[in-house]
Amino acid sequence: MAQQTLAIIKPDAIERNLMGEILKRIEATGLRVRALKMVHMDKEQAKGFYAVHSDKPFFDSLTDYMSSGPAAVAVLEAENAVDAYRSLMGATKPEEAEVGTIRKEFALDIEKNSVHGSDSPENAEREINYFFNQLEIVN
Ligand code: CMP
Repeated sequence: MAQQTLAIIKPDAIERNLMGEILKRIEATGLRVRALKMVHMDKEQAKGFYAVHSDKPFFDSLTDYMSSGPAAVAVLEAENAVDAYRSLMGATKPEEAEVGTIRKEFALDIEKNSVHGSDSPENAEREINYFFNQLEIVN
C-alpha cells in the first residue's frame, strides 16, 4: 500500500531559489508528488502546524521563522514515503546530516534547515490535512 508524507520546503530554501533543486532530488528518489502549493503562513498558522513543539524553548523562534516568508508544501507518495523522505532530508542538525542529504547540502542551521518531513504515518495524516483538502491531492 502506498504511503503519503507531508514535505515543506522552508522559507530559507525558497529565498535561495532552491525549490527546483529540492524537488528534483525528491523525484529522483522515486517519491511521487501528489499535491504541491506555495503558502505564506502567518504566526498563528505556524503555531498550529508546530503545536506539538509548543513547550519547546525554540517554539517562538521557529514559528517566527516559518511565518517569515513563503514556503512550498507537498504531499509525497511511495511505498515507504515517511522513511524514504526522512532519509533524503538527513538529520535535523545539519552538522549531523549525512553527505548527499538535502540538509547536509543546503541547511543553514538547526532552525533554517531547508526542509520538513512528517516523522510518522499518523503525523503525516494530520500534517497533510492541515494544508490540503482531498480535491487538491491527485490519485
Ligand atoms: P522540523 O523537521 O521542521 O521539525 C521541527 C523544527 O524545529 C525542526 O525541523 C527545526 O527547524 C526546529 N528545531 C528543532 N530543534 C531545534 C533547536 N534546538 N533549536 C531551534 N530550532 C529547532
